[in-house]
Amino acid sequence: MHNYTFLNLGMHPLANSYLKKKELKKREKKYKLQVSLNKKNFLVKVITKFSSKTMFNNKYPYRSSMSKTMLKSFSKLANKLKKMNSGKILEIGSNDGAFSLNFEKRKIICVEPCGNLAKITKKKGYKTYNEYWNYTLSKKIFKQHGKIDLIFSSNTISHIENLNDVFKSINYILDKNGILIIEDPSLMECLKKNTYDQFYNEHIYVFSFTSLNNILKKHNLVIFDIENISTHGGSTRYYIKKEQNNSLKINSSIQKQVKKERKIKITNIKTYINFAKRVKKSKKEFIKIIKDLKSKNIRILGYGATAKSCTVLNFCKINNKQIEYFLDTTPEKQNKYTPGTHIPILKKTQNINPSKTVFYLGAWNFIKEIRRKEKNFLKKGGQFLIHTPYPKLIR
Ligand code: TYD
Repeated sequence: MHNYTFLNLGMHPLANSYLKKKELKKREKKYKLQVSLNKKNFLVKVITKFSSKTMFNNKYPYRSSMSKTMLKSFSKLANKLKKMNSGKILEIGSNDGAFSLNFEKRKIICVEPCGNLAKITKKKGYKTYNEYWNYTLSKKIFKQHGKIDLIFSSNTISHIENLNDVFKSINYILDKNGILIIEDPSLMECLKKNTYDQFYNEHIYVFSFTSLNNILKKHNLVIFDIENISTHGGSTRYYIKKEQNNSLKINSSIQKQVKKERKIKITNIKTYINFAKRVKKSKKEFIKIIKDLKSKNIRILGYGATAKSCTVLNFCKINNKQIEYFLDTTPEKQNKYTPGTHIPILKKTQNINPSKTVFYLGAWNFIKEIRRKEKNFLKKGGQFLIHTPYPKLIR
């Protein structure tokens, strides 16, 4: 076997399966959350058994547009691409249109399997395929639109188990001079920041340059440029071309990334064993802080009912006894309960005394944005609790 399981995070419900009040008494579907390293291609993978259809359905609650940080990141990239005159564009996993809506309707094609999200871009007049990305779909789109000049996919490819099918389909429809841009959370950042919450049923893979490059090679696809970006707690944006396209040169960013990954020993099992040790330590420290706060009668509220926080709370066995409620701006999550831990999710705070309240940042990756929003809370003595790089309180 090529796979080495280095992390075991215990039993977990499906992240993003927020519960209605009447569902609280029902038994939730759970799975063993384990993470493995493929010793051949160095791909880090969550061992799952859920189909895309189970996870990405017509009630998918995640909305990319809920954060200004994401909108800004997408509009910045879109402006850059517009200047490049990128031709016909296809977005795989267009969600609620946070990226696609930056372009004119006639320039971009959206692919989004979640019906509730596909409806949003469709309504705005954007050509949207409410389907899963695969070879059959790529052939169908080719028949209707021809070859594509630019394919963009953010936080989607890492959610699809069959990578060979994903890249075969991309290869099929991408023009010979076309560019594929994908961005997903970075394994290097995850290892550095001890963000084990990047692992849950939907994040089937957390890529490094090394592992992604190994997969792409099989499909004659080449990464020619890399940008390290701050979204989702540290992500990598990969610019990819077809091997035979000589007009795009390999940027020096590639060599820099290779060096960085070598430095942290990304291909060494020990790196992952040590990470797992730090994760165990993080759990102990997180629980200790929560206990201390409770003993001082400080209220703990959650900020951002993220899929990531589902991993942290279920792993640390923190639930509605310790966290009174979560705040979240997403209408699809409000008035529901967090999976496994059954913490109510609300739209607004109810009368809080900042000096006696701590916000556990489920959305720690948006700390800058939240800090700005909650500056009065912090000024009046409120504190944030985060678990990365190690559990701590921030004033
Ligand atoms: P994100 O970190 O992108 O999520 P995930 O781990 O699920 O992939 O999600 C951020 C969540 O936090 C999303 O539900 C919206 C919410 N949020 C707020 O409630 N307030 C805020 O100010 C911000 C930035 C996010």
